[in-house]
Amino acid sequence: MINTNEALQRFEKLIELQRSRVQAMKAQGDFVDYSSLDKIIIGVCGGDGIGPVITHEAERVLRFLLSEQVAAGKIEFRRIDGLTIENRVACMKAIPDDVLAQLKECHVILKGPTTTPRAGDPWPNIESANVAMRKELDLFANVRPVKVPSLGIDWTFFRENTEGAYTLGSFGFEVEDGISLDFTVTTTEGTLRIARMAYEYAHKNHKNHVSIVTKANIVKATDGKFLSLCQQVAAEYPEITTDDWYIDIMTAKLVDEKRRRDFRVFVLPNLYGDIITDEAAEFQGGVGTAGSANLGKRYAMFEAIHGSAPRMVEEGRANYADPCSILRASVLLLSHIGYQEQADKLEAALDKCMFEEKAMTITGRNTGCTTEDFGNYVMQTIESL
Ligand code: IPM
Ligand code: MG
Repeated sequence: MINTNEALQRFEKLIELQRSRVQAMKAQGDFVDYSSLDKIIIGVCGGDGIGPVITHEAERVLRFLLSEQVAAGKIEFRRIDGLTIENRVACMKAIPDDVLAQLKECHVILKGPTTTPRAGDPWPNIESANVAMRKELDLFANVRPVKVPSLGIDWTFFRENTEGAYTLGSFGFEVEDGISLDFTVTTTEGTLRIARMAYEYAHKNHKNHVSIVTKANIVKATDGKFLSLCQQVAAEYPEITTDDWYIDIMTAKLVDEKRRRDFRVFVLPNLYGDIITDEAAEFQGGVGTAGSANLGKRYAMFEAIHGSAPRMVEEGRANYADPCSILRASVLLLSHIGYQEQADKLEAALDKCMFEEKAMTITGRNTGCTTEDFGNYVMQTIESL
């Protein structure tokens, strides 16, 4: 607990921090052009719990799809150890310095889930490694597709990934008289870049409907700014229909069978994006079936959207962990670095294995197949396509 004076000092520092973040955003160059690189380095970061098992499987499938490029030295896989909760606690850092240095030598990263400590856990309450990585590598767009063809669902979420309630999530404080405060941040620069990415994606992929989701009627300064800047970008794309929704009614409309088929692309602040993408993934079969791309101008990271499932490891079931989410993330990775043909193959194989043929099922225990069996099934399916 701190007094008002100290709170004011801290607040001033937080504004300064955000100001330098804005300067850094302005100073950034353009997106990496992967086609101009001699070699693309893919960092593979296992993470905690079942992370190493599922990540290893995804790497096997990726190596299978990119075997020619790996042999020709155009792609290199680089294993990065040390992003474990034990190591992070030993260094008392969300990302240990040596791990961060290794991550920064890669172009893209495939990451398994990492344990996020919270008060009351056996771990000290350090910042989430996910959130830290998104901030450190400035991965400002969290892109999460959800598709259920039989229900007419074809959604792509553009969740702002470095601002909102997350950017200062570990910097809140309690002042005297039992008053706790957290902060949410929206910057002009940060909003324009996510809005542009969402609209460019919609435009290039002939998806003619973008929905902006906020709570601008209540959270007036930050959500109000997010909404008006997105609308400003929308005006540059007259062929795309734009509508805006409040997060509460949008959450309801996703379960409205008559309306939800109309939605295509969503752009929304960090916390709303976090919540609604779990809801959306549930229609597709749960968070275990959805992948997530974290995109910035220099770096990109691809991850499963579920947690590290430490109980599965404790109960000796880690080798039955479902790799589908990280495999979906691998589709996004392939497409991002310009290997669209391989991305399409992996996506088609996953659709077949997960929804159509279903010759093997993965249940998370020995009632289903192992992670490795499922990886083999996916690779066999790719070969048979
Ligand atoms: C996600 C997760 C993360 C988040 C956690 C693990 C920090 O829920 O990627 O959606 O809150 O963003
Ligand atoms: Mg989430």
